[in-house]
This record gives sequence, structure tokens and C-alpha cells, in this order.
Amino acid sequence: MSAGIVQAAYLVAAVLFIMSLAGLSKQETARAGNYYGIAGMAIALIATIFGPEAQGTGWIILAMIIGGAIGIHYAKKVEMTEMPELVAILHSFVGMAAVLVGFNTFLDHGDLTGAMLNIHLVEIFLGVFIGAVTFTGSIVAFGKLRGLISSKPLMLPHRHKLNLAAVVVSILLLMMFVNAEGSMFALIIVTLIAFAFGYHLVASIGGADMPVVVSMLNSYSGWAAAAAGFMLANDLLIVTGALVGSSGAILSYIMCKAMNRSFISVIAGGFGTDGSVSTGDEEQGEHHEASAEEVAEMLSDARSVIITPGYGMAVAQAQYPVHEITEKLRKKGVNVRFGIHPVAGRLPGHMNVLLAEAKVPYDIVLEMDEINDDFEETDVVLVIGANDTVNPAALEDPNSPIAGMPVLEVWDAKHVIVFKRSMNTGYAGVQNPLFFKENTQMLFGDAKESCNKILEHI
Ligand code: TAP
Repeated sequence: MSAGIVQAAYLVAAVLFIMSLAGLSKQETARAGNYYGIAGMAIALIATIFGPEAQGTGWIILAMIIGGAIGIHYAKKVEMTEMPELVAILHSFVGMAAVLVGFNTFLDHGDLTGAMLNIHLVEIFLGVFIGAVTFTGSIVAFGKLRGLISSKPLMLPHRHKLNLAAVVVSILLLMMFVNAEGSMFALIIVTLIAFAFGYHLVASIGGADMPVVVSMLNSYSGWAAAAAGFMLANDLLIVTGALVGSSGAILSYIMCKAMNRSFISVIAGGFGTDGSVSTGDEEQGEHHEASAEEVAEMLSDARSVIITPGYGMAVAQAQYPVHEITEKLRKKGVNVRFGIHPVAGRLPGHMNVLLAEAKVPYDIVLEMDEINDDFEETDVVLVIGANDTVNPAALEDPNSPIAGMPVLEVWDAKHVIVFKRSMNTGYAGVQNPLFFKENTQMLFGDAKESCNKILEHI
């Protein structure tokens, strides 16, 4: 394949990636967006593998077959609830790839001299730094999401000063690296510093703030790929990396706004916590319970119902009976709507995906901001496997790990029914005062089974 054809293919692939991102921004066009992305990636791979610069095509194809087989195996096996873990570990691969490309390019940087050499060395240094931060940061995120590492923030003494020191030393090393026209010693030291920095950056962030971390690492992995693109002089990798980096950064910004966190302090790591954390463990009073029959009766008598799903709906796969309940009530003339918190579940848009899968009409699925004022006029709210996202402590307790995060103000409704299996806490590990309010009743059990029992009585 000639260089001209490869460049043309890259251009087509880049356009397809942009169309993919545009498609993925709306539920109705998300499927088409995925297809554009697949087509773009296929074109990019073919053009790169069979392009004039590729060597050892047989090895590349063998590696792709092995990697592809492992990827297909895990993608088929992975549960929807484990998706963020998979995404986190995939980000770590991008980070490691950037580190390896950096070292490889350094060992064989041709006969560049003068300004071109300096630019190339800066590319290598930054690529390795961003890649290494992404690598360890993503591994910690994976560990936290899988429960292998405590979701509590790591609170090292002087942690902000440590972060600052890591950045200052890295800048000094960069100057040394360029002045020495390349120094393996400086590159190895900065790699180790960046590994530790990435680890610390994510370890010092508490459980409830993990959604922002995952999208931030998504952005970092994009920049790592773009850096690898500069090192390899591959235009498409630069464009693709920049698209992932900037869309990840925009998503992080949107999530920071949704969670009332400062974007700058997220990028700096360890945001929103000053070390004093309350878990809400103090005596909260008594909770009240309801049976499925009672809930069914309450729903049949209601004029307006709002359903606020959370992670537990995903675990129970309760979206299908939830949809059936919705349809039955709508046929009776009840106004049923859904209220979706931006970080409900374990990945952005998690609840929207599940509800779309169960064919819940899009027009009754509303964002938190669109529905939060309507709870006051609502007869019944069904909290299905949600916890942190409906926790009033976020608004009432300044020491709570979720303090300041906007939540669905479900307690304003006439009746609140909470579907869960026990009085256990949610992801952030804090008790929820909602469960002890006068107008709240707990419906204990697996959310899917509870919904099925309700269906029998509506
Ligand atoms: P959570 O606070 O995680 O609470 C989920 C609740 O579901 C638990 O209290 C659990 O209680 C219940 N549950 C689990 N399995 C169940 C089942 N089979 N049937 C019924 N209930 C079940 O949920 P949320 O309100 O969706 O909040 C999400 C949390 O995850 C936030 O803290 C958010 O920051 C964090 N997070 C979000 C993301 C993204 S991007 N969305 C990514 C990472 C982390 P029982 O054990 O008592 O049943």
C-alpha cells in the first residue's frame, strides 16, 4: 500500500472516529456511533499494518490474533456491572504502551540533531511520563472498583506537597534529559516517579469520586496515545489520541460539575477531602418496612410515580420487571417517570443503557436536574438499588465523603420505597439517613424478585 493511500485511509478513519463520537452522544444514534468507530478502527489497522513503514507483518497479525482472542473472551464474559473495571484495565494497557513506545523510540531515535532532536526528546519524556501515570493510576482504579483496594482515600501526610515535589523534580529531570541530548538515567527515574505519582493521585481519591477518576484516566489514556503518535510520527494516532483525550476531559468536566467538585483539584488528585470524614455510623433511629403487596397497592392508588434506579438494579438485572411495572401503571393512567443521577451505577450512562435495553421509552427517562423539583408533587418514589445518589447526608453533613454532591431529593415525595437487600451502605461506605425518615419504607430482598412480586399484585 503506498504512503498516499495510507494517508487517505487515515483521513477517512479520522472522520469516522469523529462521526462515532457524535453518534455516541445520543441514545438514539449510539449504535450507529459504535459502527462508525469499528469501521474507522478497521480501516486504520489495515492501512497501518499493510502500509510502507510496517515491518514484521506476520508477527503483528499473530499478536492481533492472540490479543483479539483474549479480548473477545473477556468482552463476552464481562458483566455490565464489571464494565468500569474492564475500561480501567484497558486504560492501563494504553499507558504501558506509551511507556514502551517511549523507551523504544529513545533507544532508536535516528540521526536527529539541534531543535528537532530537542523536540523529539521532549515528546519522548512527556509520552513516558503521561503513560506511566496512566498505567499505575488505572491499576489502582481497577483495584478500587473491584474491591481489591479499599475505596477509602489514602491520606498520606503532606500529600499535596508530595504531588508538587513529583512535578517539580520531573520538570528538572526533563531539563536534564534535553540538555544531555538524552539520558537513560533521567528517563528511568522519571518513569519511577510517574508510576508513584499515578498511584498516589488515584489512591488519594475516595470511593464516591471514582466516576470522575475513571473518565479522567480515559482522558489521560488519550493523551498517552497522542504522545505515542508524536513519537512514532503517526498522524492518525495523534488525532485519535487527541479525540479520546479531549472527549475524556470534557466528560470529566461534566461529571465534576454534576458532582459539585472542582475540575482543577481532580486533575491535581485527592480533591474535596480535608481528612475529616464522617461515615454516618451514629444512631439514626428506626426504619420501617413494607411488603410487596403493600407497595403494589400504594402504586395502584398513586397518580404520579418516579423511579430512581441505582447500582442494585444493575446487579439484580431488575430493569425488565421495572419496565413491566411501568407499563402496567401507565396503562392505568399513572404518570410514571425515571430520575437518573449522573453517577448512578458504575459507569457514565449505566442506568440509561439498562433502561434502553429493557425498552423503556426515552421520553420518560429524565436527568436529575430535570426532575429534582418534581418530587414534592410525587405520590410514590421507588428507589431501586440506589443508595449514595439518594443520600440526604450529601446536602446535610459537611463531613460526609459525599458532601456537596447533588443528589435526587426523593424524600420530598409523599412515600419513598427503598428496594435493597439489607441496611448495608452504598459504594461510598456511608449510612443513608433517608432509610430512617418517616415517609420511607424499606422493601428488603433482591430488587428483581421484589419487582416480580409487585407485578403479581398490581
Ligand atoms: P450505590 O451507592 O452503589 O448502592 C447500591 C445499593 O444497591 C447498595 O446499597 C446495595 O444494598 C443495593 N443492591 C445491591 N445489589 C442489590 C440487589 N441484587 N437487589 C437490591 N439491591 C441491591 O448505588 P448508586 O446510588 O447507584 O450510587 C453509585 C455509587 O457508585 C456512587 O457512590 C458513585 O460515585 C459510585 N461510582 C459511580 C460510577 C459511575 S460513573 N456511575 C463509577 C464508579 C463509582 P444491599 O447490599 O443492602 O442490597
